Amino acid sequence: MRYGGGRKRRMLLQPFLVLCATVTGLGLFMLALRPLDPPITVDFPKKIELGDSNSSSLNGGGEKPCAAVEEMGKDFEAGVVGKETLRVRRIIEDHFDLNGASRIRDLPPEQFCSHGFVLGKTAEAGFGNEMYKVLTAAALSIMLNRSLIIGQTRGKYPFGDYISYSNFTFTMNEIKHLWRQNLCESKYGRQLVMRTDDFEKPAQTNVLCSNWKEWKQPIIWFQGTTDAVAAQFFLKNIHSQMRIAAFDLFGDPQVLGSQPNVFGELLRVLISPSKDVEAAVNWVIGGEENPDISLHMRMLMNRSIRAVQAALHCIKKVIESQHLTSRPKVVVVSDTPSLVKSIMPNISEFAQVLYFDYEKFKGNIFEGLPKLDFRVKDWGPAPRWVAFVDFFLASRAKYAVVSGAHRRVGTTYAQLIAALAATRNLGDNSSSSSFSFLSSFQSTMLTEGLKNQVGWGHVWNRYAGPLSCHNQTNQCAFTPLLPPGWWDGLWQSPIPKDISRLAAYGIKLSGLGTVDYDSLQNYCSTRKNVERTVTFNL
Ligand SMILES: *[C@@H]1O[C@H](CO)[C@@H](O)[C@H](O)[C@H]1NC(C)=O
Ligand SMILES: *[C@@H]1O[C@H](CO)[C@@H](O)[C@H](O)[C@H]1NC(C)=O
Ligand SMILES: *[C@@H]1O[C@H](CO)[C@@H](O)[C@H](O)[C@H]1NC(C)=O
Ligand SMILES: *[C@@H]1O[C@H](CO)[C@@H](O)[C@H](O)[C@H]1NC(C)=O
Ligand SMILES: *[C@@H]1O[C@H](CO)[C@@H](O)[C@H](O)[C@H]1NC(C)=O
Ligand SMILES: *[C@@H]1O[C@H](CO)[C@@H](O)[C@H](O)[C@H]1NC(C)=O
Ligand SMILES: *[C@@H]1O[C@H](CO)[C@@H](O)[C@H](O)[C@H]1NC(C)=O
Repeated sequence: MRYGGGRKRRMLLQPFLVLCATVTGLGLFMLALRPLDPPITVDFPKKIELGDSNSSSLNGGGEKPCAAVEEMGKDFEAGVVGKETLRVRRIIEDHFDLNGASRIRDLPPEQFCSHGFVLGKTAEAGFGNEMYKVLTAAALSIMLNRSLIIGQTRGKYPFGDYISYSNFTFTMNEIKHLWRQNLCESKYGRQLVMRTDDFEKPAQTNVLCSNWKEWKQPIIWFQGTTDAVAAQFFLKNIHSQMRIAAFDLFGDPQVLGSQPNVFGELLRVLISPSKDVEAAVNWVIGGEENPDISLHMRMLMNRSIRAVQAALHCIKKVIESQHLTSRPKVVVVSDTPSLVKSIMPNISEFAQVLYFDYEKFKGNIFEGLPKLDFRVKDWGPAPRWVAFVDFFLASRAKYAVVSGAHRRVGTTYAQLIAALAATRNLGDNSSSSSFSFLSSFQSTMLTEGLKNQVGWGHVWNRYAGPLSCHNQTNQCAFTPLLPPGWWDGLWQSPIPKDISRLAAYGIKLSGLGTVDYDSLQNYCSTRKNVERTVTFNL
């Protein structure tokens, strides 16, 4: 198994050194004339200062020390990787046939009592982050061949007013009940114990160092997994059994563009909108065809004209590249409702605009729900349930989802919209799909490259380091449906903050994102083993 992208560093650094010499010797002007030499294999020091540059001025292909977002996105131009995604779709189906509640709850007591479970538990904070907790648990249940439990709070499913969960999942109450009924403790000597592991406590989590397949506790809860990254940490686990399980599901992180739409496929089978949310979505669509494109604008109450300009350009680019004729339909969703109204006339110049005008909607259930003014700055002034209608509305897009923002492009919410929309576009028998996920960046967001895409929940975070060009023009970039968990791709590089964050997990990460595997082995063998458990009294 290969580790940490040695191939990438050679491809990247060696022409770069040649380039440095060339620049010094002949000046930039000569660069364009220099023929492309096949790379020669030489060992380079890992630490290297990368100068700032801008790609179009060094238009020599493969010789640039940095790339613009559109260039980084070329790997994802193909959209949904049909073959790989359908392979994962089948893995998911088989898994839930085998480990779904309807089969497991009827197992003979002895087998039931030795069965394993993974708990997916959330609070009701931001939908994207909280949903990733459930999806990570689902992914882990597949990797570990265990059944999935959805954690409830006071008898209610997370966001249970707006979404329902598939019947192949368990609840804790049912597990406790079955544990008693099957006499797991008294007859088979198995206490109902849950092992917890907190991803947000780097010094304690076993995500990289332990073989979770050997854990004997009936239930496992992997906490604090608020984005696409946590589950993909298993790709670098020191135990080959864990790595193989992770590769099976997520693909090889070194071959960007080949990753299956794992979280989209999980969402597709795991949740569905409640009847009322579905009714609101249908009210917007009005019995007509589903929209062609969805635009998500994460504005945090800002109304940046530049963000709007960039997004308009990006929508036009999609319309052109997908050859959509005759006034395509564009759905607009945003955390800033006033923005939706102000952008409408501009989009209307070339497309039909749809959005959920919640003030006009006369649905029955929503009347009684509280209008929380919880995190208004973050979430916008609309009632919370609007975000669910927006989510399922936007995920109906047939051809593309475009994510624009004041600062945070490709948030977890937008990622999941795109991931779910992409699954609708991929038929069970089709090997390809024409669906795209695009990120719209205004130039002002890129003066220091992608450096400000700091949080791990941002889809471009793994590209935010020194390989991202400063002073880019507006970008409309193809975007991975599975946000990358590592920095193994050619143009991926970490920001200093992530180098130190990874150090806390025992990973020595080079400035270009290479993992020092020996040092991880070493770290794992010397660290203190942390094992936290909770025992349920039945
Ligand atoms: C980016 O633009 C700023 C301000 O115009 C300038 O000071 C800086 O040198 C530019 N950086 C690069 C890499 O061109
Ligand atoms: C997964 O668990 C089932 C029982 O639920 C078992 O029959 C099957 O062999 C297991 N698969 C693997 C790959 O361990
Ligand atoms: C579970 O749901 C599926 C589809 O939603 C349905 O076909 C099936 O009958 C349900 N199974 C049980 C045991 O309720
Ligand atoms: C909106 O964002 C722009 C660009 O970052 C900033 O200059 C402006 O002050 C912000 N406006 C508000 C109202 O926050
Ligand atoms: C949108 O349209 C309005 C007029 O309808 C115009 O004033 C504004 O500049 C346009 N915005 C953009 C970003 O093109
Ligand atoms: C897909 O192909 C299988 C077998 O080739 C067939 O049974 C099934 O009906 C097809 N499904 C669709 C949606 O076309
Ligand atoms: C690079 O810089 C030039 C001029 O400074 C600008 O015209 C061009 O758009 C920039 N390219 C990118 C990709 O930002």
